Amino acid sequence: MAARDGKRGGRRGKRVGRRGPTVRVKTARGRKPSSTRWLRRQLNDPYVAAAAKQGYRSRAAWKLVEIDDRFGLLGRGAWVLDLGAAPGGWTQVAVERAPRGRVVALDRAEMEPVAGAEVRTVDLDDGAAADALVAELAGLIDLVLSDMAISATGHRGTDQVRNRRLAELAFDVARRVLKPGGGFAVKAFHGGGDADFVAELKRGFREVRSVKPSASRAESAELYLVARGFRGGGEG
Ligand SMILES: C[S@@+](CC[C@H](N)C(=O)[O-])C[C@H]1O[C@@H](n2cnc3c(N)ncnc32)[C@H](O)[C@@H]1O
Repeated sequence: MAARDGKRGGRRGKRVGRRGPTVRVKTARGRKPSSTRWLRRQLNDPYVAAAAKQGYRSRAAWKLVEIDDRFGLLGRGAWVLDLGAAPGGWTQVAVERAPRGRVVALDRAEMEPVAGAEVRTVDLDDGAAADALVAELAGLIDLVLSDMAISATGHRGTDQVRNRRLAELAFDVARRVLKPGGGFAVKAFHGGGDADFVAELKRGFREVRSVKPSASRAESAELYLVARGFRGGGEG
């Protein structure tokens, strides 16, 4: 069922095929070379085409499809908290795959509603807003997803530190809202102290795996850490 229907109950295991013939992009007067490169990449990206066809708001949706196909995180009745959700591709996938559950999706940026999800504008850097969310959802959530990322500055070290901080913010929320046995999938990046972060996760969960979905661009340092079997401990 296409996500654009806004109904719950999608099928598992959709696959994105290989790319078609390469689309060439002429250099237009006034267009920067970086914009031409971006346009060429978009036009030749099978995940962009497949997302449009499926009614997903972002190509990122395919990353969660692949992660969930592999790890089976999204039970049909799961209560899910989706952090850094805009424009909403992951939220659409969560609603499809947890048709009898509850999906709360938030982002610091405003996001169009997603049928079947509760969409909120929350900046997790705002401690009071994060605490209010935690107070409402403490101990109720089966799965926390975080695809949060900063807008890249281009300075690798700075970007790594700021993205790592977002992953830690997500973990801090996760350990306060998850039910024992719950799961957590979080965007991380190679470098920037990921070994320490994995060690922290291992203290909180029985199993921690890393995955680079094929929809994640090869040239990007992005990867995802998937943690299962939350040991509990809540506010501790
Ligand atoms: C890569 S996008 C998420 C894409 C989304 N998973 C999808 O499938 O459409 C990263 C998001 O993280 C959000 N974000 C970054 N910092 C945040 C914060 N402190 N609190 C909430 N959201 C944040 C950004 O606004 C951005 O929308």
